[in-house]
Amino acid sequence: MKTESFRGKDFITLLDWTREEVETILDVALDLKRRYAMREPHDHLLRARTLFMIFYNQSLRTRNSFEAGMTQLGGHAHYLDPGKIYTPALPGKEVAYSTERVSDVARVLARMGDAIAIRCYGDPVDWVYGGANELIRNFAYWADIPVLNMEDDKYHPFQALADILTVKEKFGTFKGVNFVMSWAYSPSIHKPRAVPQSAIIAATMMGMNVTLAHPEGMELDPEVLAACEANARHNGGSFKISHDMREAFKGAHVVYPKAWCATPIFKPPVGEDDPKKTQQIFDSHKDWICDAEKMRLTDPESIYLHCLPCDRGYEVTDEVIDNTTRSKERPWLSAAYDEAENRLHVQKAVMSLVMS
Ligand code: CP
Repeated sequence: MKTESFRGKDFITLLDWTREEVETILDVALDLKRRYAMREPHDHLLRARTLFMIFYNQSLRTRNSFEAGMTQLGGHAHYLDPGKIYTPALPGKEVAYSTERVSDVARVLARMGDAIAIRCYGDPVDWVYGGANELIRNFAYWADIPVLNMEDDKYHPFQALADILTVKEKFGTFKGVNFVMSWAYSPSIHKPRAVPQSAIIAATMMGMNVTLAHPEGMELDPEVLAACEANARHNGGSFKISHDMREAFKGAHVVYPKAWCATPIFKPPVGEDDPKKTQQIFDSHKDWICDAEKMRLTDPESIYLHCLPCDRGYEVTDEVIDNTTRSKERPWLSAAYDEAENRLHVQKAVMSLVMS
């Protein structure tokens, strides 16, 4: 839905929001976090409101933080399994009495509730890069209530809000913070780009010094990279790309190592529809693991982030992620669980702002 204020606005990518708006969301999230910690009731904010959540993919954090968040705000979140409704589909993708056109689903749900949230990436759109984002944008075109992106194949904006809220809490500022978004090895070649793309958009929007580290073949969307360069120019930070994990970690305040898929996995014209080639790229970079040796290259006050779920023993060692208290031997702090909790607070903030 198109609007000039928070109320009624869709939340699909941070690229549709200004830095000032994002800072307001973070302020509201911190206020709601304090209220939740103090057990101060705030269930008047969305009393009797309904959020419809359509999950094409699995989830632990996203589903539960939205459901818990709606309960705490006084409303309710419906979980909708696409296989148990008539799977929402775009024109040309419809199957008789099995799917239902997005334009119909969106308009019907908009008559009954207050927002529609969608998660869709990968297999449900046959690894056509951008296909899931197109589906969500189509929902937003037809629904006259806000549409919220719970992760598509391009963006995971709620995760990015939780990431930058965690940085704000740990460092008290974004200025001068060296933020490293790094690829890390995983035995699974099927991981979307949404998390790293949204993280670098958010970090450059906040004016951090951002390094994107990955082996060749793991490039991200050129449009996202261009947006990050523009963000860095406008917001006072920097943005660079490195192909060396160790070099990128040197002096970092924030490291965020996680796997994402290699370009050949996507269907043409973006990729080559070639899982074998994708597997080869992955297999030649098994040393891209976040371990204690690499963490010792970072700033002594550094934090480790991961959106979770993580592949322990591949993306990260137990020693790194389980280090939730700093020590002389292990000076870094794993903030991955603070980051997971912050999903709840940022989502409550956005829902309060757009659904009230
Ligand atoms: N980080 C994240 O989105 O987690 P889930 O896949 O569990 O929702």
